[in-house]
Amino acid sequence: MARLDFPQDFVWGTATASYQIEGAVQEGGRGPSIWDTFSHTPGKVVGGDTGDVACDSYHRYEEDIALLKKLGVKAYRFSIAWPRIFPKGIGEVNQEGLDYYARVVDALLAAGIQPCVTLYHWDLPQALQDQGGWASRSTIDAFVKYAETVFQAFNGKIKQWITFNETWCVSFLSNTLGIHAPGFKDLQLGVTVAHHCLVAHGLTVKKFRELGIQGEIGTTHNLNWCEPHSTSPEDAEAARRSRAWNNEWFMDPTFKGTYPQFLVDWFRAKGAEVPIEPGDMETIAQKIDFIGINFYTGNYGRYKENEGLFDYEEVQVGFDRTDIGWNVYPEALYKTLKWVHEEYGDTPIYITENGACYDDELTADNRVHDVKRTEYYRKHFVQCHRLISSGVPLKGYFAWSLLDNFEWAEGYRKRFGIVYTDYETLARHPKDSYYFIRQVIADGGFDV
Ligand code: FCB
Repeated sequence: MARLDFPQDFVWGTATASYQIEGAVQEGGRGPSIWDTFSHTPGKVVGGDTGDVACDSYHRYEEDIALLKKLGVKAYRFSIAWPRIFPKGIGEVNQEGLDYYARVVDALLAAGIQPCVTLYHWDLPQALQDQGGWASRSTIDAFVKYAETVFQAFNGKIKQWITFNETWCVSFLSNTLGIHAPGFKDLQLGVTVAHHCLVAHGLTVKKFRELGIQGEIGTTHNLNWCEPHSTSPEDAEAARRSRAWNNEWFMDPTFKGTYPQFLVDWFRAKGAEVPIEPGDMETIAQKIDFIGINFYTGNYGRYKENEGLFDYEEVQVGFDRTDIGWNVYPEALYKTLKWVHEEYGDTPIYITENGACYDDELTADNRVHDVKRTEYYRKHFVQCHRLISSGVPLKGYFAWSLLDNFEWAEGYRKRFGIVYTDYETLARHPKDSYYFIRQVIADGGFDV
């Protein structure tokens, strides 16, 4: 048996997002977001589920924070709903929205937990979408104004700020693959939205520095590891394209102020251009204080003519899969973060999301014996430890998610929580994985 100890200052945390947990969509002066529209459109979300009630964290945040305190985490990552602050995206500030998050932030601080705030976790005010959404550069200006308002309201209280959650999802998943709100299927739109979000990120970081806001600022990209299934050059190239789409397309601009040229050419051949304006790339590549990585899975794949955007198809090689169909491939976490460090340097890295979806059952005594999720965490913690030991500046880990919640287009049936949400009563029941993580935090490590 070996003992894996984590550094004393390692930041353990959990993560959530506003639309996934808050509910109360018509309270506190909140305006509608694209997710209200999308989830209320028949056929978009499994089971017709919406975030109208979700986990009702808008009213139950104290209970959630008590769960965090009992878990012993140092930090909590949550997102601010832009339409609570600016119901129409721009214009008048809604004080009630700011007051709500002030209550959350103060309760976290009183519990000794560092708030880590995501500014954009997908709930774009619908009024802005009506004017073109992220395809329009005016949304960039609106975002920076919103960010500035929130920075000033909470200056000094927030340890970490994250501009965007998963720019790949905001752009391609939502505007090219059509799976998330607003649900378009257009390559050019995906490329444009990605670029505008990256510019918005850069301008927000600039504003943060200009205003002298305390704390750290970064962004979160979701990386996905793809490896070629064979040694054939076709397979290698196809896997490289798929990987670069998820990874370099976002990481290169953020750190180097460039896009991967081979993919720019690939998109151009399909009729899509990046709408770069003078100064954009310098703006995007603002120095950040940390990079957030969301990691869930990896895969193997091969060349297949006319398959998807990249002539690439995934090959099943026998991984266990979670109940959302994602391979359990913990070593890919190691490979991904090792690559991030080698390619992009010493910027501190936080895993801002990692976790697993399983179809949990509540037992008669209100427990959930989520053995597979607990194993998933254990295996990924082993890789975190390996990363730290090999010199990768991994500074923290946020489990996705504190509690079962509205899993976007999959609705409520897909559970990612370490706390079970009973959607009938809205009661919360910590699962075995919660107790496992609690023990790891309390002991500063675990035995393998
Ligand atoms: C990520 C999202 C998060 C959650 C997990 C499962 O893509 O950032 O909100 O839905 O996946």
